[in-house]
Amino acid sequence: MRVIAIDGPAGAGKSTIAKALAARLELDYLDTGAQYRAVTFAAIHRGIEPDEDEVVARLAKDVDLDVSERGVFVDGIDATLEIRGPEVTRAVSVVAANPGVRAEMRRRQREWAGVHGGGVIEGRDIGSVVFPEAVLKLYLTASPETRAQRRHKEVSDLKYEEVAAAIAERDARDQGREHAPLRQDDGATVIDTTDRSVDDIVDEIMGMLP
Ligand code: C5P
Repeated sequence: MRVIAIDGPAGAGKSTIAKALAARLELDYLDTGAQYRAVTFAAIHRGIEPDEDEVVARLAKDVDLDVSERGVFVDGIDATLEIRGPEVTRAVSVVAANPGVRAEMRRRQREWAGVHGGGVIEGRDIGSVVFPEAVLKLYLTASPETRAQRRHKEVSDLKYEEVAAAIAERDARDQGREHAPLRQDDGATVIDTTDRSVDDIVDEIMGMLP
């Protein structure tokens, strides 16, 4: 099973690079952030508070999640757009700090990789926890300004300062949590994507593949 793990903070370019790399290698692609967002969406949809750990952990097990390049479906509801909205974005790092949710997502991610024969998988703990055996581990970063600008372009109804503050808060929660925090795995190669083109970065990664 050939897994390429791509981790890093919000706005580092993980999704763009992971999709482009998967296309070049003809491998499948999994966005694990979308899985955590989908569980968060399900909780909000059912009126469950994101910090009700036991209830949310049970929900993570019971909910029907379909995350693929076609979109994100939660119990059959198309949540592709809503999982990127401000409500889910604000709550997702609380849901992701829940160890029961993480255990279930890890199980689903490993199952996905088994079914797909590996793939390009992006998230926060993919190389460090979920697939320590990955053939290549990358940790993408970019300057805080670049990361905030990228997100600001995607959510144009918020002010730049609001987007920058929200990203900083989410990164701090992802880095500071007890279970599987965002961190640079020792075996990961760091790539700074600030001011670099997608093609240039994908070329560099292709050259690193064993
Ligand atoms: O990648 P994205 O920004 O969509 O991820 C949303 C959130 O999901 C992150 O801020 C983090 O809290 C959580 N996440 C995680 N572990 C992963 C992927 C995402 O905790 N492997």
